[in-house]
Amino acid sequence: MAHVKAISNSTEPWTSLSANLFAIGLFDDHSLTDVGVEVDQALNGQIRHAIELGDLKGKADETALFYYHDKRILVVGLGEKEKFGPEALRRAGGTVAKTAISKKIGTISMEVFGGNNSAVNSQALVEGVILGSYQFLDYKTREDDIFTLEEAVILNGSEDGIGKGHIIADVVCRIRDLENHPGNVTTPTKLAEEAKQIAEEGGMKLTVYEREEFTAMGMGGLAAVASGTEEPPKFIVLEYWGDRQDQKPVALVGKGLTFDSGGLSIKPASKMDEMKFDMCGAGVVLGVMHAVAAIKPKMNIVAVIPSTENLSGGKAYKPGDILKAYNGKTIEVLNTDAEGRLILADGLSYVSKHYDPEYVLDFATLTGAVITALGHVATGIMGTDPALIERVKAASEATGEKVWELPLWEEYCEQVKSKIADVKNIGAPRQAGTIAGGAFLKEFVGEDIPWVHFDIAGTAWGSKEKPYTPKRGATGELIRLVLNLIGV
Ligand code: BES
Ligand code: ZN
Ligand code: ZN
Repeated sequence: MAHVKAISNSTEPWTSLSANLFAIGLFDDHSLTDVGVEVDQALNGQIRHAIELGDLKGKADETALFYYHDKRILVVGLGEKEKFGPEALRRAGGTVAKTAISKKIGTISMEVFGGNNSAVNSQALVEGVILGSYQFLDYKTREDDIFTLEEAVILNGSEDGIGKGHIIADVVCRIRDLENHPGNVTTPTKLAEEAKQIAEEGGMKLTVYEREEFTAMGMGGLAAVASGTEEPPKFIVLEYWGDRQDQKPVALVGKGLTFDSGGLSIKPASKMDEMKFDMCGAGVVLGVMHAVAAIKPKMNIVAVIPSTENLSGGKAYKPGDILKAYNGKTIEVLNTDAEGRLILADGLSYVSKHYDPEYVLDFATLTGAVITALGHVATGIMGTDPALIERVKAASEATGEKVWELPLWEEYCEQVKSKIADVKNIGAPRQAGTIAGGAFLKEFVGEDIPWVHFDIAGTAWGSKEKPYTPKRGATGELIRLVLNLIGV
């Protein structure tokens, strides 16, 4: 795992910090914090001169380097003061980490930019530093290709905020790794092993159903998708009971497709390699449960991950096949590449039947169409409960992980009705494909259970680089949003 591990808080004067770099922030109105002013004085006004000459403007993500004896001083632009908040702090933290790595500086220190060291601000800053320091280097064997950030020190931060940011960002990096590893490493078995580690750390109950078991239980969706591969599929159930047993749990369901070839409705070769990321929904769920295991909040959560590959082996399921999902509904398969909704059908039915959840959230790289609709900018969301959707939007505001609601109107729900079975696994050709996915899933959520579906196909990887997200590969997006939503 290549991201900074040693994070600490210091109350020493900035001149006594041993790190090779100290960073301060500058707003675009050219104001500095008290510490910033002190640093500028120690530099005999060099920062002011740079501002006056127009070399330094305080624009977001801008950087300029100065020298104070044997220490580097990095000035980071914070943008507009009026818009300043956690997201700007995450960006600034990420900018420091990335700048340090690019210059092969191994230890860094910084003020809490903007000067307000609340728990929320300190958390966001640490998240930015850790997430920005992330690199996926596991397959690099040349020493020259490997340089990692060793240590980050925050000057006068909030201990609570730093601690929480550290736990959460560590988890996001760990899940990015799981997602970046290829399909021959991150298998369903690997996801079950990850769940086992989480269960041990968090005192959770883990149940893993094997192919024969979940098939006998009536999970016709997962059984069908898994029929084309010899890699053992798993139906993973993690239960965290941190509150009284009579308190309703929150249920999380994640698509754990560890490689999606499309099956017999095979995908084009170009970019098929990216389908190792088709387990990123499971990544969100495992990430949340990891953080829950570490923080142990007073609440109940059930996490379910149906996991398999989608290949075209001799026993593979076929277009035209009719399946029966765990809730008894029949599904006409018209495209074996719309497999995510088939395995989620069983996952959603399972949590609805066994847990009486307070609400259900599902996460899936479900449709290419969501990239057409929203690009790599926002996750598409749909659901049945306006109040829950509002809470999701508020959490999204707080964590900077954008979501956009799509309508789940009756007209769309009609599009997944089948002529010969209850539902079919595709909607109307070339129309509202993301909504058709949501409309299909809705059939498998118990009546009256509030539910939100997150289509993360555009945001789980391939997004434009931000200061705290990597240039390429998995983003680990939505773990932070869900933790915020459930109040962890
Ligand atoms: N895993 C894919 C969705 C996907 C495609 C994510 C491209 C990211 C990039 C999913 O299983 C799939 O193939 N969906 C089909 C559905 C269609 C057949 C109704 C799709 O989007 O083409
Ligand atoms: Zn597919
Ligand atoms: Zn898929």
